[in-house]
Amino acid sequence: MAALQKSVSSSFMGTLAAGCLLLLALWAQEGASVPVTSNCWLDRSQFQQPYIINRTFMLAEEASFADNNTDVRLIGDKLWQGIHGKRKCYLMKQVLNFTLEEVLFPYSDRFQPYMQDVVHFLARLSSQLNQCHIKDDDQHIQKNVQKLKDTVKMLGESGEIKAIGEVYLLFTALKDACT
Ligand SMILES: *[C@@H]1O[C@H](CO)[C@@H](O)[C@H](O)[C@H]1NC(C)=O
Ligand SMILES: *[C@@H]1O[C@H](CO)[C@@H](O)[C@H](O)[C@H]1NC(C)=O
Ligand SMILES: *[C@@H]1O[C@H](CO)[C@@H](O)[C@H](O)[C@H]1NC(C)=O
Repeated sequence: MAALQKSVSSSFMGTLAAGCLLLLALWAQEGASVPVTSNCWLDRSQFQQPYIINRTFMLAEEASFADNNTDVRLIGDKLWQGIHGKRKCYLMKQVLNFTLEEVLFPYSDRFQPYMQDVVHFLARLSSQLNQCHIKDDDQHIQKNVQKLKDTVKMLGESGEIKAIGEVYLLFTALKDACT
């Protein structure tokens, strides 16, 4: 009786283990097929308003007059090297957050009247990307974003002016990556 019980219980354990393995296998497969990012998306029509395009362009132009450091580019191919699809949108979300918090907000009384409209617009995009997340390892992305931050910090005020001068590139990169 004890032996029978033991064999029943061990076969039950075996079935249970097999079931768990199957579940794990299914789960792993599922994990591989779900997208690694979620909610990294912006409505394209927002980027097609002539008024905000003009304001962003004018702000960038005005700031680039004050930017005399032509051999540094913050927003360009190097920033998203090896980063594709919605992961690029997630990267741009980080860049947007940094640009708003560390550059545009502190400078919000300069480059008027353009600055106010552009800050408003970009802050709205930033809040729309609130739920944009990445599920797998984002080390590579964080490293690239950190490089941009370090460059701006290293250049001091001229780095901040440069970041404002690149605000139209930021606009275009967000459009390309997130819509
Ligand atoms: C933007 O609008 C202003 C008028 O508000 C105009 O003078 C300027 O040429 C426009 N710039 C572009 C690039 O469309
Ligand atoms: C470039 O900008 C920096 C910082 O604003 C300033 O100190 C420097 O004199 C400028 N150089 C030229 C050539 O305008
Ligand atoms: C930037 O990110 C931080 C942390 O996720 C968040 O609390 C803050 O609201 C963001 N700022 C903007 C302007 O979106």
